[in-house]
Amino acid sequence: MPSLEPSPEEFRRLTDRVGNLAVDFVAGLDARRTVSPTSAHSTSAAFDLPLPEDGIGEAIIDDLEQISQHLRAPTGRRLPYVVGSGDPIGALGDFYASLVNQNVTAWRSAPAAVAVERTVIRWLASAVGCEGFDGLFTSGGSLANLMALAMARELRAPANEDGAQPCVVYASEQIHMSIPRALALLGIGRSSLRLVPVDDHLRIDVDALKTVIESDRRAGRRGIAVVASAGTVMTGAVDPLAQVAEIARSHDLWLHVDGAYGGFAALAEPAKFDGLARADSISLDAHKWLYQPLDCGILLYRDGEQARRAFSYSAEYVNTSSEDPIESFAFFDHTIELSRRFRALKVWLSLRYHGLAAFREAIAGNLRQAQLLAQLIDSQPALELLAPVELSVVCFRWIGPDRAALNERNDQILKRVNQRGHVWLSNANVRGVVGLRACITNHRTTDDDVRAVVEEVLAAAEETAADTQAHADFGVSR
Ligand SMILES: Cc1ncc(COP(=O)(O)O)c(C=O)c1O
Repeated sequence: MPSLEPSPEEFRRLTDRVGNLAVDFVAGLDARRTVSPTSAHSTSAAFDLPLPEDGIGEAIIDDLEQISQHLRAPTGRRLPYVVGSGDPIGALGDFYASLVNQNVTAWRSAPAAVAVERTVIRWLASAVGCEGFDGLFTSGGSLANLMALAMARELRAPANEDGAQPCVVYASEQIHMSIPRALALLGIGRSSLRLVPVDDHLRIDVDALKTVIESDRRAGRRGIAVVASAGTVMTGAVDPLAQVAEIARSHDLWLHVDGAYGGFAALAEPAKFDGLARADSISLDAHKWLYQPLDCGILLYRDGEQARRAFSYSAEYVNTSSEDPIESFAFFDHTIELSRRFRALKVWLSLRYHGLAAFREAIAGNLRQAQLLAQLIDSQPALELLAPVELSVVCFRWIGPDRAALNERNDQILKRVNQRGHVWLSNANVRGVVGLRACITNHRTTDDDVRAVVEEVLAAAEETAADTQAHADFGVSR
């Protein structure tokens, strides 16, 4: 009878081999293309394989090599969307967490893991200036935002027993797409999201926020929450949190702060996040700007009892017999999930290995690099910034004489930059103006990588201009 358990010798050989591959992968990162030249055809050829009836044994190591050929490699030049870099120390934590395979649902199932998670949450809350907040790890910012709004709904317009009641939520028009998605799932409805205009810095306009809340009040609509951004996904704008907190308090609205992208920048620039500690709940993503491997989201809340009100509902078979407040603690009373992986271990190892100061420095470095990129763009006549650089996002575009075609040209340039594969950028759209976007949440990014962004964009612009000319010539000669 074949056994699923490898012998200690076999397992040691495999972990040595995987360990060596991992070390080579990280050591060789800088020499890699960020965007590998793969295609649907080549990934199907590599991975659309039949399920083997008989195992292939140690040849699975070759599969890892194969995977590494079709990656978006986490180099210092991987700068699209909001993508973290993945600290190798954190990756060791993930490996060990999978191996010890604790179900972090309650202290009685995973005593060490529950204690570690609660400690890491306390550390992180205090590191971003929210001493005393409680919370837990989630798969990411989207789940944290959904859970925060479920808490707001249960506190302001209870729905758990009888279903959702009509209510509205306020956020700026720059809010992340996970907020309308959450409202849809919660039965509040996407049309109940009031999108408030923004100021010149793309931050929520607080006067407009007050006006819309008051007009809803007069019309008898029940407001339950304001969602402020601590770093919008498109441009990194940080809403004036203290002012928004004041408005939320005076209208008895829940204040949720979406800091999934920018919240950890409070480690380096606390003044920018003044008012964060007045939130009722906060989303953070350690898999973004704390450089942790996916997945590693965080929901912080001011009051654990409010999380219980939203999420606690359990059957008799999970009851605990302990009276001890620690031993009877159950995460499943505070979240949507029941079975949960040991996400906190990677953050625990990473923070204890490097120390908080190293993270503060790396984040400050990314903030400085975004300013460097902005300066390089400003000094290039062929490029222009599309928005103020508030955190580590830089939105910009190539400009040329044919103003009418600029959106299309910038689309082409972005595609070419990514085809060239040295740097990976994403698309910007700032008030209808199309461009390119670099988001530096990456501990591997160097100043040379930042310079490479400009060099690659200019090279791509030249190549695509040559293509456009060749097409035009071909059109004429036909
Ligand atoms: C501001 C903001 N909120 C929420 C999210 C969603 O986070 P996740 O992708 O971890 O679900 C993102 C993702 O980029 C984000 O930038």
